Amino acid sequence: MGQGHPALLLSLSLLLLSSATADDGSAILKLANSITPLPSDWSTKSPNGFCSWRGIKCDSSNTRVTSISLSKLSLSGTLPPEISTLSELQSLTFQDNQLSGAIPSLANLTNLQTILLNTNNFTSISPGFLQGLTSLQTLSVGGNVNLSPWQLTADLAQCASLTTLTANECNLFGSIPDVFESLPSLQNLRLSYNNFTGALPPSFANSGIQNLWLNNQQNGLTGSIEVIGSMTQLAQVWLHKNEFTGPIPDLTECKSIFDLQLRDNQLSGIVPASLVSLPKLVMAMLEIAGGFGYPSILSDGWDDNNACGWAFVTCDADKKNVVTVNLAKQHFAGEDLSIICQARFFKKLVSQ
Ligand SMILES: *[C@@H]1O[C@H](CO)[C@@H](O)[C@H](O)[C@H]1NC(C)=O
Ligand SMILES: *[C@@H]1O[C@H](CO)[C@@H](O)[C@H](O)[C@H]1NC(C)=O
Ligand SMILES: *[C@@H]1O[C@H](CO)[C@@H](O)[C@H](O)[C@H]1NC(C)=O
Repeated sequence: MGQGHPALLLSLSLLLLSSATADDGSAILKLANSITPLPSDWSTKSPNGFCSWRGIKCDSSNTRVTSISLSKLSLSGTLPPEISTLSELQSLTFQDNQLSGAIPSLANLTNLQTILLNTNNFTSISPGFLQGLTSLQTLSVGGNVNLSPWQLTADLAQCASLTTLTANECNLFGSIPDVFESLPSLQNLRLSYNNFTGALPPSFANSGIQNLWLNNQQNGLTGSIEVIGSMTQLAQVWLHKNEFTGPIPDLTECKSIFDLQLRDNQLSGIVPASLVSLPKLVMAMLEIAGGFGYPSILSDGWDDNNACGWAFVTCDADKKNVVTVNLAKQHFAGEDLSIICQARFFKKLVSQ
């Protein structure tokens, strides 16, 4: 309709504008009536001037909400479902409160870049939660220990802009969806302290993930950890307290790893040379021995911090610094074997 009457077009757009304003204002008013204590300068009676209420930001038209930021205010209450009507919303941050009830659907809020709802007391999350969040960069829902068990679905693939997903300790179960080819910007994946089961997704291969925290799953992730050998951007890798099996892969290409936690798994085989020869700084954070199923006699005696009393450990005369850890003659794998445990104490490793 290229030839529309100007007056008609004007009144049409005014109508659209005012209905959007009414929507955003009424959604904020619902919010005002759902949380307590009421933030200072908010009203529960009228949304007048809501764009200048504490924690609210609007666009340049001063009608559409772009950001709601109410973290660390000891808020209790709930988030009303009307939040899903705030179609210009870019940022929703309510972390570190005691909000409860359902996390409202935020699906198809295509402008939303940041969702921080972590460290609250939410009790449910809608199944289609991740649909159509095409601009989402940061999603943080961890530390909601009363969430009813939920799954991370393949909808995650729609969040193609995601750089950070933090969902530790929030009752996730099932498998980690195999969608990481679709998340080229993802750098931080924190899913610790849940009940994920199954294998590491093959699409981890070649992903850009730098920080991978999958530790402490209730029943435990299973299968091999071979795929991490192809995750060349990895820096911090926490896989401890799972049920992984098989060998530690060649990590030669993972040049940035500075913190690798593999203990409390069922790994077996030989520690690859690439790991043993990592630079000493790197070594400082390695905790590996407990990750093996078979040589528990190694780590069993190594409970306290006085490494100098541990089996296979040689210290200097002052009993202050570990000089060597020699596991070569222990026949755990029938070949050269260096198991490194609490390696922050160690100056030298011997594998011959
Ligand atoms: C969290 O919610 C549970 C009920 O679901 C309640 O018993 C508990 O007191 C709440 N905790 C906080 C810190 O609000
Ligand atoms: C999001 O939008 C898509 C496409 O319009 C639709 O199929 C889907 O049902 C929507 N999801 C939700 C949870 O509203
Ligand atoms: C953990 O997940 C498994 C398999 O999905 C399930 O059988 C089990 O009940 C879950 N455990 C808890 C404590 O929820």
